[in-house]
This record gives sequence, structure tokens and C-alpha cells, in this order.
Amino acid sequence: MIHCIEPDDFDKQEVDYLIKSACDIMDNPSKYAEKCKGKQLATLFYEPSTRTRLSFTSAMLSLGGSVLGFSDANNSSVSKGETLRDTIKIVSSYADIIAIRHPKEGAAFLSSLHSSVPVINAGDGSHSHPTQTLTDLLTIYRELGRMDNLCIGLCGDLKYGRTVHSLIKAMKMYENISFILISPPELGLPDYMIQELKESGIKHEISCDIDEHIDKLDILYMTRVQKERFEDMEKYEKCKNYFILKQSNLSKSKPGMIIMHPLPRLNEIDTDVDSYPGAAYFRQASCGKYIRMALILYLLDNIGIKKEPSYEKTTGKCFNSKCISQEEKTDLLVKKNKNQYLCAYCENILKK
Ligand code: NCD
Repeated sequence: MIHCIEPDDFDKQEVDYLIKSACDIMDNPSKYAEKCKGKQLATLFYEPSTRTRLSFTSAMLSLGGSVLGFSDANNSSVSKGETLRDTIKIVSSYADIIAIRHPKEGAAFLSSLHSSVPVINAGDGSHSHPTQTLTDLLTIYRELGRMDNLCIGLCGDLKYGRTVHSLIKAMKMYENISFILISPPELGLPDYMIQELKESGIKHEISCDIDEHIDKLDILYMTRVQKERFEDMEKYEKCKNYFILKQSNLSKSKPGMIIMHPLPRLNEIDTDVDSYPGAAYFRQASCGKYIRMALILYLLDNIGIKKEPSYEKTTGKCFNSKCISQEEKTDLLVKKNKNQYLCAYCENILKK
């Protein structure tokens, strides 16, 4: 069975297929209106969401299927102390496919280990958000017509922003990609992501100034400072308005540059930017429904396929306090990456 836990669970051919399929769905929605008749999607949202949950719901309904689940874990047995693994065992006996969002890193991966149906990661803490990445790739394809030869400025909260982590991983598939990592010094990319960039040989530059780079960017990807992940609110207050993109910043931008944002936005993009032709963030949000339709169909159509696990069992413990393996009783599972071992749940570096 194939799950969608990490952005690199799919190879380039599969991503191309999903993008083409989403475009076909956009052009011919009636062809797909009954493709999931009789199928049920469970949406288990342990964290707030507007776009992701509603686009999953709209996607399944537009495929003729139905949706069950919760948008507030306090209304589920989690509030009685049920473990995630038990919840998943039960829900996978009711539904044909599960989309889960959870505050703990690695929660979707753990779910996939205990589920009898495909699991989709709809965001696990500040770790990954692969369906946002598929949405972003579809947006890039539709807006720019290419995925190669791109200079991408990632701006805002690169430490906790799961959408940027996933986008970086996915862009490894394409040729001649470079990143400008623009963040307050406190909110730079986590070590394991910097390592990933270095190992993949992707050009990247670290900065804390948008204006200095705007003339070379094909894409400016803005993000919200993730208040809910901060332990120290003083630090949040200091960083929250670090970047505010205004029309005036765009005077030197490269012709054709697009601005993306996974949304919700707070102050980081002024509303006067919305009328800029390259402001793609609302179009990006609408792409989310179609790529999720393509993804649901792909996972349900390939339920019989077996993928070899890319992890191994070991003894020990992951020391990331936000990792699901600390909360639920689990064996430590590790992935080998070059000379390092990473926790298979949250991908923090365990040892060299
Ligand atoms: C993002 C998320 O949840 O990570 N939103 C989304 O899914 N569209 C970004 C954010 O919350 O800032």
C-alpha cells in the first residue's frame, strides 16, 4: 500500500502524473464525479485548519465519496487519553483512506504503521506537509509552466514552517534549483534540512533581507511566523512582524516573479500586494482541492502496491521532545542517510 507521509514518498514520474491528473480534473470535473462512489475519507484533524481540511472534504465530495472525522480532537476519545495508534486502528476499519493533521512530528508516519488503509499526512507539527507541497508544485507548473531552472526565495519562519521543509525536499527532484533562505536569524532552517540541502548539492544562500534578492527570484514563497510552535512568546513578539511585503518592495522584482503563500497570512503580505498580477496565493489555495482529488484517486487505485520500508528498528530513543515516538510507546525506527542516522518519525539527526 502507498501512503503519503513525506514529500519524497513520490518520485518525479509519480508527481508528474499527479500534476497532469489534477489538470485533467480541473478541465473535466464531470468525468471524475463518481470515481469514489461508495468510498469514505476520514479527516482526523488534531490541529486547526481551514484550507487543508475543507479542500480534502471538497475533493472527496467532488469525487462522489463521503467524509467522516473530526476537526477538534477534544470531541474525540483522544480527550479520554486514547493513543493515536488505537484511534488509527479503529478508524481504518471504518474508512477507505485517512488524512491526518497532528501537532506531534512523525504522527502521520506512526499512523501509517498501524493503518490498514492509505494514510495522508496533512501536517505533522513543524515537520512536513506533503499535500501542501503537491499543491505548491501544481501552482508552480500552472503559473510558470516549468519546474526546473528556478530561483526560489523562502521567506519568514523557516524553522517551524513545515511547508518550506517539504517544498525543499520535493524540489530536489528538479534541475538547477537554488534557494535564498530569508528569515530572522532565530527562525532559520533546522540543521537536518540544511544538511539535506548540502548533501543534495542544491545552491542556497542565507539572508535576512528580501530587497537584496528580489531581482533574482522566480518565486517568492512567503510564510507565517508559526506562533503555536514557540515556547517563548517574547521571541515570537520579536519575530512576528520581521517581514511585511508591500507593493513598494516589488518595484525591483524580476519580471514574471510569482508570490506564493500556503496561507493563512497575517501581516507578512500587505493586502496592497493582492492586486499584483504575480500574487498567486489565492490561485494556489484553489489548486489544493484538485491535487488532493488526484492524490486520493492515486492512493486508492494503487492500494495493492507494496513499497519496501526505508527504515530499520533499533534500540534507544529520539530526544526531540516534539517527536511522537516520545509520547506513544514505540520502537525507535531509524533511516540511514549517508553517514547519519535519522529518527524515522521526525527526521532529527540521532548520531553520525
Ligand atoms: C500551513 C500549515 O498548516 O502548515 N497552512 C496550510 O496548510 N495551508 C501554513 C500555516 O499554517 O502557516
